[in-house]
Amino acid sequence: MKFFCIYILVGLIALNYGLNDEEEWKQYKAKFNKQYNETEDARRFQLFKTTLEENAKQNEKFLKGESTWQAGLNKFSDWTLEEKRHLSGLAVPLPSSAATFA
Ligand SMILES: *[C@@H]1O[C@H](CO)[C@@H](O)[C@H](O)[C@H]1NC(C)=O
Repeated sequence: MKFFCIYILVGLIALNYGLNDEEEWKQYKAKFNKQYNETEDARRFQLFKTTLEENAKQNEKFLKGESTWQAGLNKFSDWTLEEKRHLSGLAVPLPSSAATFA
């Protein structure tokens, strides 16, 4: 029984990591309460995917010990560079506990 539970758990984790971008996008929007119309959604989804790729690269560096920090998603993950620039001066804190892809 114990092994069975572990098996299920591992399966669920694998499933979670295997989520496709669209599924992650949906969860991301739900998590950060984002609502866009169709046009805007498509645009933001592209930005979001770019962020996912950048995060993956960064986290790979982290795992290899080439970097000291991990990337995660936050409410700015679907912003354009231009929009983020307007935030200059404002640090975007990313506590390590937030470095999940949930
Ligand atoms: C969709 O949202 C964007 C951004 O808020 C806006 O510029 C655009 O006019 C909207 N399009 C429609 C069809 O409502």
